[in-house]
Amino acid sequence: MHKKLWIPGPTEVKEDVLKEQAKPLFGHRSNDFTLLYDSVLTQLREFFKTEQHVLVLTASGTLFMDITARNLITPVGKALCCVNGSFSGRMYEAIVDSGRIASKLEVEWGKAVTVEMIKERLDTSDYEVVTICYNETSTGVKADLQAIGNLLKNYPDTLLVVDAVSSMGGDMLLPDEWGTDLIFASTQKCFALPAGLAIGIVSQRALDRAKEVPSKGLYINLEKILGYYEKKKQTPSTPNISLLFALDYKLKLMLAEGAENIFKRHKEMADYTHEWALKHGFGLFAEEGYRSVTVTTVENKLEKDVGELNKGLAEKNLVVANGYGKLKGLTFRIGHMGDHTLDGLKELLGAIEEVWNL
Ligand SMILES: Cc1ncc(COP(=O)(O)O)c(C=O)c1O
Repeated sequence: MHKKLWIPGPTEVKEDVLKEQAKPLFGHRSNDFTLLYDSVLTQLREFFKTEQHVLVLTASGTLFMDITARNLITPVGKALCCVNGSFSGRMYEAIVDSGRIASKLEVEWGKAVTVEMIKERLDTSDYEVVTICYNETSTGVKADLQAIGNLLKNYPDTLLVVDAVSSMGGDMLLPDEWGTDLIFASTQKCFALPAGLAIGIVSQRALDRAKEVPSKGLYINLEKILGYYEKKKQTPSTPNISLLFALDYKLKLMLAEGAENIFKRHKEMADYTHEWALKHGFGLFAEEGYRSVTVTTVENKLEKDVGELNKGLAEKNLVVANGYGKLKGLTFRIGHMGDHTLDGLKELLGAIEEVWNL
């Protein structure tokens, strides 16, 4: 029996979206593919109000961490990685593992890296790239991306790279206005599709940097991928067309709902979950003022058994997520992203109350 996914990704995929993947295929060098890919990119540009380069890779979001390391940092340059959880830490590891130099700006899990902290580092050293996670899924902390983008406008040689895997398409995001240089996501989170595609929005500055960087590899070479699209309106290697059908369809639905309304729906769900948690004597793990709208990390102050909770929820065909890594048992996470609604959330929270006798 299917359990409704209230985890912070992969999230619930609607039946009509799943069915889009069953459409008959065509070749990726056909005009049909050009039309499909162009439709996807055009809709992404419209949704995110961007004139930057847009690309969709057949990959999960992590590939963009390798892309950052191999395309945007020269062998003599260095990156500043803001780290406040597992996923932001992964970006640092990806960069170092590619033989590039990176420094960490690290704060405790549950806290946000602030504009002031970044400014202090940028004023004392030169960095080619600053990396930040817009929505740290391991802790439920959201960065003040707009303010960080504004700060970076004063450092024209420093690119802003943003992991927006668990908030792009759910939380507000304006790449051009906020001044991001590479912002990326995976389809299995707020886009409410199966995993397998990664979406990136790339500034011209970032592409110019990539042109200066040697040995960028093949599958992850931004210059090649964007150059191929420029010339042929296609992808250099064989894409997952079935998922692109689903993404094309989903973007039509997202544009019809509207970015502002989608954001409002997510914010409402987050606010409701926060109030519910506090009312029942739990805490909120993320620091105030920096709480995610797509995932709530509930501090398990009542010391309830999260494993037992999911056993009980399974009988009601529901599932939430335990705390991430070292936070297992100490927290649990409710992913209210994608197509979820406040009504569905109320049912879930009611079910949690029943299982735990709250
Ligand atoms: C913030 C964040 N970054 C990166 C990733 C990794 O994304 P993927 O599994 O699509 O490679 C995740 C996955 O949960 C995430 O939440």
